[in-house]
Amino acid sequence: MFESSTASLSPDYPLLARQLASLLEGERDLTANAAQFSAFVNDSVADLNWAGFYFLRGAKKHDGQELLLGPFQGKVACYRIPIGRGVCGSAIAERRTMLVPDVHAFAGHIACDSASNAEIVIPLFKDGAPFGVFDIDSPTLNRFSEIDQRGLEALVAVFLEATDIP
Ligand code: SME
Repeated sequence: MFESSTASLSPDYPLLARQLASLLEGERDLTANAAQFSAFVNDSVADLNWAGFYFLRGAKKHDGQELLLGPFQGKVACYRIPIGRGVCGSAIAERRTMLVPDVHAFAGHIACDSASNAEIVIPLFKDGAPFGVFDIDSPTLNRFSEIDQRGLEALVAVFLEATDIP
């Protein structure tokens, strides 16, 4: 009946999924495909200011793992995020997509770009184990709907299917 103001920002995700599968066809390298995927999402989804990857790596100062910055589009970002910290670390710890309408209301949010107001973080799994996240920021409060969540999760699934995870 009523359309939310952000619903009109949703692209045709099934079309994007087909275009993405075609783009990634013939290349299975993680770094190359992660870079292409970040650029593709940033170009194809309206009103974003950051789109990119963090991958689980050995922690710099102690045992265990933390998230380390990977290929992305947008302004320079923080290098490392501990598991359980911020929206990205929470997505890993809770093993679920974090849809955050207002980052300023999310306890522990890590502000890399002060322009960011809404965020969605999708955890990445290989054989059931999380190995990283795909993080998307918008300057618009309440930017991401459940339609965007499902559409972006479907794009991430195409990326994972097309890519060898070492
Ligand atoms: N906001 C994220 C940090 C990464 S930047 O948004 C690129 C977080 O709270 O985990």
